[in-house]
Formats: sequence, structure tokens, C-alpha cells
Amino acid sequence: MELPDLSGRTILVTGATSGVGRDGAVRLGGQGARVLVHGRDHERGAATVDAIEDAGGVATFYPADFTDLDAVRGLADTVREETDGLDVLCNNAGVYTTYRGRTEQGFGMIFGVNHVAPFVLTHGLADHLTADARVVNTASIAHRFADLDLGMVRRKRGLTGPAFERYCESKLCNVLFTRELARRLGPASTNCLHPGNIPGSNFAREIPFPLSLGVDALSALPSIPGLTDTVADGGQALARLAAAEDVAGVTGEYFDKQALADPARSAKNDTLARDLWDLTAELVGIDPELPSGPATRETNSDGRASRGVRIDVTEVGSDGESADATAENGTDEADLTTLDGVGPATAEALRAAGFDSVTAVRAASAEELTTTDGVGPARARRIKDSAEGA
Ligand SMILES: NC(=O)c1ccc[n+]([C@@H]2O[C@H](COP(=O)([O-])OP(=O)(O)OC[C@H]3O[C@@H](n4cnc5c(N)ncnc54)[C@H](OP(=O)(O)O)[C@@H]3O)[C@@H](O)[C@H]2O)c1
Repeated sequence: MELPDLSGRTILVTGATSGVGRDGAVRLGGQGARVLVHGRDHERGAATVDAIEDAGGVATFYPADFTDLDAVRGLADTVREETDGLDVLCNNAGVYTTYRGRTEQGFGMIFGVNHVAPFVLTHGLADHLTADARVVNTASIAHRFADLDLGMVRRKRGLTGPAFERYCESKLCNVLFTRELARRLGPASTNCLHPGNIPGSNFAREIPFPLSLGVDALSALPSIPGLTDTVADGGQALARLAAAEDVAGVTGEYFDKQALADPARSAKNDTLARDLWDLTAELVGIDPELPSGPATRETNSDGRASRGVRIDVTEVGSDGESADATAENGTDEADLTTLDGVGPATAEALRAAGFDSVTAVRAASAEELTTTDGVGPARARRIKDSAEGA
């Protein structure tokens, strides 16, 4: 695998203190990138920084415990303050634990660390990503064994059941997150991967006895073709998605190590992907829409880019009532949601951005108007500016 010169590129790798993330981070640093090394363990963090610097890169350790979303937000803030932009975000940190406790914000531990934390981090950094940025999410082949129940996620703030089930479900979340993120990013891209079956990482540290004996035995062996892989295999696959030229422009895909692969059927369910996105945003209390920046796409409801579309704000709602009348009648937010799937937050944002009535978003040609579905305040302002300027 050939990686290009990465001098001048800034890359954040979460979970880079060990295993796949560490190996990938050192590879990327070896190509001259500035690597932001994330993890919890300071000693291992310092060791990764040293290894990157030995390989010719520049690195700094950024500790943050993903069991606390305040720490995740703090990490995003620090990265924003200390860098001019982010070229690659590798959401790689992950945990497998039989511990049934909850994160600081009350999420199931595996769900919180493996899905909610990278969601919040990515959201917090979305407008800091450069135009051709890449987001790489470390998922797992384990997603194939998952059956995701969003009702349960809502009720329990995560998933219950045995650790293996919860882990598989969290990894399905990673693939679905990638799919939905791809719809929302552009020109930046995002992909996810199964890094291999890697007993040699620290991942199995919490696997209970006697299963741990088997993992220990396997980790002492070189890789067994078709059964196990090395940490280096995983790190290479991660680094490739992060930087290799042959995957530039590929987005929303799932890779099995370095090969493009077909994920499970449920992982290709766009409705599930979108519902998971919205539900996660709701549970953590953030706007589901990504803050706009060089990396984010203006998408319509079926995911097509709408950049540059001129929207003429004049007509009426589908019910035939005039826009103004509908707006006047729309005394509460619920009324506004009756319009073309535009939700209350969007409706408010459009009104705040200066539209006379929310039904304006239904106007002009129907095709163009669906592009405003999911619009947020910043984008609403741009739409208005472009409508006024055109
Ligand atoms: N190993 C496998 O066979 C395998 C297979 C498929 C997918 N994966 C995925 O690959 C990714 C990396 O796993 P790995 O095998 O390299 O395991 P690993 O050696 O245990 O590395 C996990 C990394 O995640 C970090 N991490 C764990 N919990 C965290 C938390 N609460 N807050 C912040 N960071 C945390 C760890 O940081 P500290 O060490 O500093 O705590 C470490 O850097 C995971 O997403 C995993 O699901 C692994």
C-alpha cells in the first residue's frame, strides 16, 4: 500500500494509544502528517507520540475519556483551538466490555463510547474539516450479527443484553453513521472498515476468563490466514482509508480490511441510518444538522447535493392555502411541521433567517424545495442570501 506525502496535513486518530489506532497513527505520521493522538492512557499516549516522531511526523497527545461527553466536546474544542483545520478524522476508539455501568450522561457503556462519542465528536468538528477531508470510522464485521431496535435505544439510552450483542449493535451503528454522514458531507468523504480479527491488540483486555485464554494464545501467534490478522494489517487498512489516493472520492462505503465490501442488509437501510442519526442528536440534545463548513454538503431529502440551487420564495403550501395564511395560522410549532416534512427547528430557523413565512420552503418548483428539508440556520441564511442576490 502506497501512502502519499502527508506533510501539512492534520489528522486526529481516536483510540491511538493502542492497537489499530496506534499503528495507523504511526503510519500516517511517518508520511509527515501532524497527528493528534487521542486516548486515555497518558503513558501509552506518550509512547505513540514518540513512535510518530521517530517515524518523521509531529504528534501531540490529547487525552479524553469517551465515557463523558463533556470530555468529548472538550476534545473537539481543543482541536478547533489548536489547529487551523482537520484533514482527517479517524473515529477509531472503541470498547468491548461486560461492565454494565453507564456513561456520565447515562448511556449504555458500549453504545456511549462506540457510537454516541464519535457522533458528538464528528458533529463538533464538522465545520472544522477541510473541504477534501476524510472521516474514517472503525466499525467491525460484528455489525453483521446485530439487530438494532431504535425503540430500545430511546427507552434505555442505549442497548441492553449481553456484551456481545451490545457490541455488535454499536458496530452496526458505526456503519449506519457512516452512511448518513456521507449523505451530509461533501466534498469531504467518509468510509468505515472492519480492521480485521486482531487478537494482538488490547481490545480483548476485558474479555472474561476462560475466553481470554484463547485470545491470549491467538495473540501470541502470527496471523492465521482467514482467521486472524495482525495489528499492522488493521493499521494499514485504517491508514489507507485515511490517506491513500486510490480511495479518494469514495464515500459512504464499508471496507473489509482493504477491500470494498458489502455490509449487512440492515447497514444499508437509509431510513434506519437517518432515524439513528436523528435519535442520537435528540438524545444528546444537539441540532441533527451538521454545522456548515467547507466539508459539509447541502443535501436535499434524497441526499443529492443542492449547492448553487436558487430558491425562489414565493408560493403556497401543498394544501393550497396561501403561505402567509398558513404561517399566521401556525400559532404553534406543531402546525409548522405539517409543511413538507419541515420540522419545528427548521421552520423556526427559516423564520429567524428572515423568510416571511415558513411555507415559503414549499414554494417554487417542488423539486427544488425539497432541498430545504433538514436545513439549519446557517444554511437558511445562505439560501436567503442566494435568493436575494440571484
Ligand atoms: N481487535 C479486533 O479484533 C477488532 C475487530 C473489529 C473491530 N475492532 C475495532 O477496532 C477499534 C480499535 O480497537 P483495537 O483492536 O485497536 O483495540 P485496543 O488496542 O483496545 O484500542 C482501543 C483504543 O480505544 C481507546 N478507548 C477505549 N475506551 C475508551 C474510552 N472510554 N475513552 C477514550 N478512548 C477509549 C483506547 O484508549 P486507552 O488505551 O488509552 O484506554 C485505545 O486507544 C475499535 O473500534 C474496535 O471496535 C477491533
